[in-house]
Parts: sequence; structure tokens; C-alpha cells
Amino acid sequence: MELAGIELKNPVMVASGTFGWGREYADYLDLNKLGAIVTKSITLLPREGNPPPRIVETPSGMLNSIGLQNEGLDYFLKEDLPFLAKFATPLIVNIAGESAEEYAELAKRLSRETAVKGIEVNISCPNVKKGGMAFGVDAGLTKEVIAAVKKATSQPIIAKLTPNVTDITVIGQAAVDAGADALSAINTLVGMAIDIETGGSRLGTLTGGLSGPAIKPVAVRMVYELARAVNVPVIGIGGIMSGGDAAEFLLAGAQAVEVGTANFVDTAAPLRILAELNDHVHRHPRALNLS
Ligand code: DHB
Repeated sequence: MELAGIELKNPVMVASGTFGWGREYADYLDLNKLGAIVTKSITLLPREGNPPPRIVETPSGMLNSIGLQNEGLDYFLKEDLPFLAKFATPLIVNIAGESAEEYAELAKRLSRETAVKGIEVNISCPNVKKGGMAFGVDAGLTKEVIAAVKKATSQPIIAKLTPNVTDITVIGQAAVDAGADALSAINTLVGMAIDIETGGSRLGTLTGGLSGPAIKPVAVRMVYELARAVNVPVIGIGGIMSGGDAAEFLLAGAQAVEVGTANFVDTAAPLRILAELNDHVHRHPRALNLS
């Protein structure tokens, strides 16, 4: 199936940050069967990330504060891309930066690589002091970043939106106006968990990003709103654990989905979810149109 100029193998992709750079899961499921591989965010320079603990389990979900740990673009191009290029699955590289120029530079250098089929722009990471979500909560800054990326690449651009806003359609429309070819929603919701013995945060930072089934109803609602507001495809993300969950996002108006937190529970989750979704579609042929 085609989505914003990307030839996906099927509508079930993996969500950025939950699947490493693909290699980490290669022994556990057939990467060739995924709709697409979406990498964890890459920044221009290496980042060490945030102090531990970085993950804490919460009711029906988890909080994380990784801080965009990654080895930087040069390492990705040299060490990860040759591995990922071996698979028939389309590769979508997620990028993050502290300035519009950094995003543009990443997009420019990545689009020289034939193995890269799309760029997902992370303007929604809640765990860094500069950049990330600071862009995605502001329509003007969203436009600035997406326009800079658009100028730097002819690859399809997916803007990954934060739910930590009053009206996600305002940000979504700003991204589309600046040239986004698709939107993905939602990234994590900012949350806190406090250790009642110490009185301190259960994370190494004060706040983190909430993901998992706990956020699914919020995500479905926001995908529904976006799908009605914009004229580009929407990719649904947020607590998808089953084929039924994926179907819910498609009914809300998404054209495809990304599976995230489920990967931590079941290393073959995306393929199980795809099989369940196919089964659901066969039982409800008129409810969904996946062509
Ligand atoms: C991180 C990035 C995200 O986009 C997110 O939703 C959660 C965490 C991170 O690297 O910290």
C-alpha cells in the first residue's frame, strides 16, 4: 500500500524509539514482514541521554525519559544503515534537533541515501531541554522546522505530533501548510510518577513521556480530529496492543499505524497485530477500507 509516496508493505509499522535501529529486534521477528521500520530519533551529534532510571511502569502504561540517546548521524550512516538497507521493508528515519537548521541538515544528508524512503520529524519529544516538543507545541515553530526539512529533501516527510497541546489540528495544519506529506500522532503525554517513600521522581528526570494502553483513547480522539482537519494521511500511534486496537485507529481515520510500547511486552507484537488486523478486516469487510 502507498502512503504519502512511501510504498508500505502493510499498514502496521513500528513506532520510533521502541524498536531501536532494527538490529535489536532482528532475531525476534522477520523485519521483512513489517509495514515499515521507523528508527529511533537520530540527531546530528551523539547524545548520551538522560540519567537513570529512564523507565517506570504505571497503570496500563509506562513513563520514559530517554533524552534522545543516540550515536549521531555519522554513526547511523556507517553502522546502522548498511544493515537496514538489506531488508525489503521501507525504512523511515526519525530525526530530532535543537534548531530548524539541525533538522534540515539531517534531512539533507539522509535523503542522499537510496535506502531511506521517508523522514519522520520528531517535533514532540518531551524529555529534552532544547528542541523536541518545544517545536511541536507552537504552530509557528512547527512551520519553521517542517519548512526547513521540506527545503532540504524531496523525500516524503511525516511530522510526528505531540498530544501536549490544546488543539492538535492547529499544529497538524501548520505542519501540512509547511509541506508535511503525512502526520503521525500521537507521541507521549507528559506525566509524572512520585516515589512516596523518598518523595522524589521515580524517573531520573522530573517528568517523562506516558505511553501504552493508558493513552489509547486520547490518541484515537486526536487521530479522529486530525483525519477530519487535514488533507494528508494520518498514521495512528498510541497504545496499540492488538489488531482490534489497530482497527480502532483505522476507523478513526488513520491510514496506517505504528506499534510502540507493545514491542516491550511482545517482541513479535507488530506481526501478531497485523495478523489480527487482517483477520478482523476479513470478518468486517465493509467496515474498513485498507486498499
Ligand atoms: C523520548 C523521545 C520521545 O519522542 C518520546 O515520546 C519519549 C521519549 C526520549 O528519547 O526521551
